[in-house]
Amino acid sequence: MMISTTMNAKLNDQIAAEFAAAHAYLAMSCALDRMALKVLAQRFLKQHDEEREHAMKILHYVQEVGGTVTLDAVAKPKKDYKNVEAIVSTALQNEKDITAKINDLMTLAESEKDYATRSFLEWFVDEQVEEVSSMTDLLNVVKLAGDNVLQVEAMVRHQMLAEKT
Ligand code: FEO
Repeated sequence: MMISTTMNAKLNDQIAAEFAAAHAYLAMSCALDRMALKVLAQRFLKQHDEEREHAMKILHYVQEVGGTVTLDAVAKPKKDYKNVEAIVSTALQNEKDITAKINDLMTLAESEKDYATRSFLEWFVDEQVEEVSSMTDLLNVVKLAGDNVLQVEAMVRHQMLAEKT
């Protein structure tokens, strides 16, 4: 095995955290769909897909370096939110928590002189900057829009179309 037992265990924790984040986004997407906010529901579904990809990326890395993948149960996500702002601020907090966990992994890789894992984690460090930044932007827009959530729908639709081109 090319990684330490401790690193193997921490990477398994991160796989669980990414799947939990995916599950949370899926629950948020369903909550938004129930509010008839179809575009935001779509945006959060896309986040769910990305989090699953993150989990799978780490899972494949563990396999590649000869580690053992141990899958944990994914906790039942919160499903009742009082409004869009509550959903987006929870998503932002989740992204900050994931960032802290990635940073802890990076610290461990450095202390173990595990340069392969450090190099692998760099993509996640960059990705978290992007995710925290875009969720912060979305939260600011939601706050500015106040009760006018349809304005947020229009803006997010515009953004998603722009990303496709
Ligand atoms: Fe995979 Fe958004 O953390």
